Amino acid sequence: MRTHYCGEVTESLLDSEVEVCGWAHRRRDHGGIIFVDLRDREGLLQVVFDPDEQDAFALADTVRNEFVLRARGRVRRRPEGTENPNLPTGQVEVYATELEILNRAKTPPFQLDDTDVGEDVRLRHRYVDLRRPEMHQRLRTRARVTSILRRYLDDNGFLDIETPMLTRATPEGARDFLVPSRIHQGAFYALPQSPQLFKQLLMMSGMDRYYQITRCFRDEDLRADRQPEFTQLDIETSFMDEDAIMGHMEAMIRGLFREVLGEELPEPFPRMSHAEAVHRFGIDRPDLRIPLELVEVADLVEGVEFKVFAAPAADPKGRVTALRVPGGGELTRKAIDDYTQFVGRYGAKGLAYIKVNDPSQGRDGLQSPILKFLPDAAVAGILERTGAEAGDLVFFGADKAKVVNESLAALRVKVGHDLDLVEPGWRPLWVVDFPMFEYDEGDKRLYALHHPFTSPRAEDPDELSQSDPEALLSRAYDMVLNGTEVGGGSIRIHRPDMQQAVFRLLGIGDSEAREKFGFLLDALEYGAPPHGGIAFGLDRLVMLMTGSRSIRDVMAFPKTQTATDLLTEAPAEVDEAQLRELGIRLRRTAKAEA
Ligand code: AMO
Ligand code: AMP
Repeated sequence: MRTHYCGEVTESLLDSEVEVCGWAHRRRDHGGIIFVDLRDREGLLQVVFDPDEQDAFALADTVRNEFVLRARGRVRRRPEGTENPNLPTGQVEVYATELEILNRAKTPPFQLDDTDVGEDVRLRHRYVDLRRPEMHQRLRTRARVTSILRRYLDDNGFLDIETPMLTRATPEGARDFLVPSRIHQGAFYALPQSPQLFKQLLMMSGMDRYYQITRCFRDEDLRADRQPEFTQLDIETSFMDEDAIMGHMEAMIRGLFREVLGEELPEPFPRMSHAEAVHRFGIDRPDLRIPLELVEVADLVEGVEFKVFAAPAADPKGRVTALRVPGGGELTRKAIDDYTQFVGRYGAKGLAYIKVNDPSQGRDGLQSPILKFLPDAAVAGILERTGAEAGDLVFFGADKAKVVNESLAALRVKVGHDLDLVEPGWRPLWVVDFPMFEYDEGDKRLYALHHPFTSPRAEDPDELSQSDPEALLSRAYDMVLNGTEVGGGSIRIHRPDMQQAVFRLLGIGDSEAREKFGFLLDALEYGAPPHGGIAFGLDRLVMLMTGSRSIRDVMAFPKTQTATDLLTEAPAEVDEAQLRELGIRLRRTAKAEA
C-alpha cells in the first residue's frame, strides 16, 4: 500500500512520487491550504493539500486526529523559513494528489502529546498510548536488547529451549498463580515463578548451555520494578564455576550497553561481598552513584545517657550508624521532619541529626536536639569518623540492624536524589558471598536467601551440619546496576545428599521433599553435572537502559499496582458452567466480596 515509511521521506527523495500510510497526528488549516502531519512507526511527515487538487483537498477537510490515511504525491522542498530542523523529514513535504481515508477514528481519549495523562487512562486505552513516539522508542529498544542478547548467546553455544508454563510450584519466595485442572478435578497446575528446576534438569540432560527468554509469574506485592508476570532472560551452564559464569555474563552486558547506548562499562565489573554492601550501604543492591555511606558509631555511644542510642549499641542485633550528608546543613526543619516521616515507613522510630555549622568550635559549632545527651568524646568521635565539615548534616539510625539498614538505605537514596548528589553514568556491581540462609524471627525457621537449590560453600553434608547455618555462605551472585538488581544466580547443588541436607535445614522433611521434589532428587541420582546459571530481569534491564521510571513503561500490556489489566479487565468472573466443569464452587463471588 505504500512506497515508503513516513519517517523515511527525506531530501534524498526530492521530486519523486511517494505513497505513504499512517495516522493523522495533527491537521492544520492555513489560509485555504491543509497540512496533515502523517505519523507512522518511523516518524512524522508533513503532507500538504492544496485546493487545486480538488478531491484530495475535500477529503482532507474531513480528516480528524488519528484517522488512518493513505496519501500519494510528490516530494518537494519546504518553502524557506518553514523547515523543521527537529525532524529528519523537516526539510521536505509531500504535495498530495490523492488521499484515501482507510479508517475514521473517534476523538482519542487523550492527546498523544499531552504529558499529563493519568496512567489508568493510558492503560485502559493502551493501543492509543502505545502510539506515542516515546513508547514506540522503548519497545523498539526492548526488541533490540532481546535481539542482541540472543545473538550473543546463540554465538556462544547456548541453546534456546522452552520449558512448561503449566507445571508444579517452584519456590522462588513468592505466592504461586494456580490453574485448575479440568481432567484432574481438585488438582492444580502452578505457573512457573521461574524455570529454575527445568533448566537444572536440562543440564542433567547434557544440554550444556541453555537460555530462554521467558515469562515468570509471581503473586507478590507490586512496585515500580515488579509485575505479577515479567520476563527473564534465563540461563544455565554445565562445568563452569562462578567466575566463568560471571565473566560470560558481564561480557554479554558490556556488549549490550556498547551496542545500544554506546556506553563502556568497566571490565571487570567490581565485586563486593554481601556483608560489605550491607555494612556500607544498608542494602544488598547499593546504588554506587550516590556518594553517601553509613558509618558505624555504636562503639562511640555505648553506655551514653541517651537510651535511643545506648540500647541498640549494646544489643548484638542492634545497629547505630551515621550518614553524613555533604551540604545537608541547608535542610530546613520541615525537610528534616519529612525525612523523619519517610524513614518511619521502614519502621524507624525517629531520625536524630546533628547540623555541623563549624566543627572547629566543638559543641558550639553544632546544632542538634540530641547534643545535650552526648558526652564530648562521643561527639568528637562522630565528627572525626564521619569526616563532617562545615555545612554538613549527619543523620543517625539506631534500632535493630534490620530497621536501621532498611530505613537508612532508603534515606541514602532519597537524600542523594533530593540534593542532586547522584553521579552520572553506569555503576554495575556483582554482589557475592551471600549468606545461604536467613532466619525468620516470626516463623522461627530458616529460609534460603536465594533458593533451596543454590549450593552452600560446604564440601559435603557433614560440613554443612557442623556449621552455624546463619554464618554459612552460598555460591550465589547478583548483578546490580545503579541500585537495581538486574540479575541473580548461583552455582547449584548437584549432589542428592547435599540437596537433601539443605532441605532438612529448611524444615522440609524427607517425605515432603520426596513429594514436592522427588523428580529432582531422582534426577540428581542419575548423573548430574556440576552446573550453575543466572536469570536477568529483562524488564528491569530495559527500564534502566531507556531511563524509564517503571517497568510498566517498557511492557506493552502491563498490569496495574493491584494486578489488574485495565484494557481487558482481567481478572474477571467466569461462568458458573465453566466452574462446574472444573469442579470448583466459590466460597464467595467477586461481587459479594466487593
Ligand atoms: P530471581 O528471583 O532473583 O532469580 O529473579 C531473577 C531476576 O528477575 C527479576 N525479577 C523481577 N522482575 C520484575 N518483576 C518481578 N516480580 C520480578 N522478580 C524478579 C529481577 C531478578 O534479578 N531462578 C532464579 C535465577 C537463577 O538462580 O538462575 C531466579 O528466578 O531482576
Ligand atoms: P526523643 O528522645 O524520642 O525525642 O528523640 C530525640 C531525637 O532522636 C529525635 O530527633 C528523634 O527523631 C531521634 N530518634 C528517636 N528514635 C530514634 C531512632 N531509633 N533512631 C534514630 N533517631 C531516633
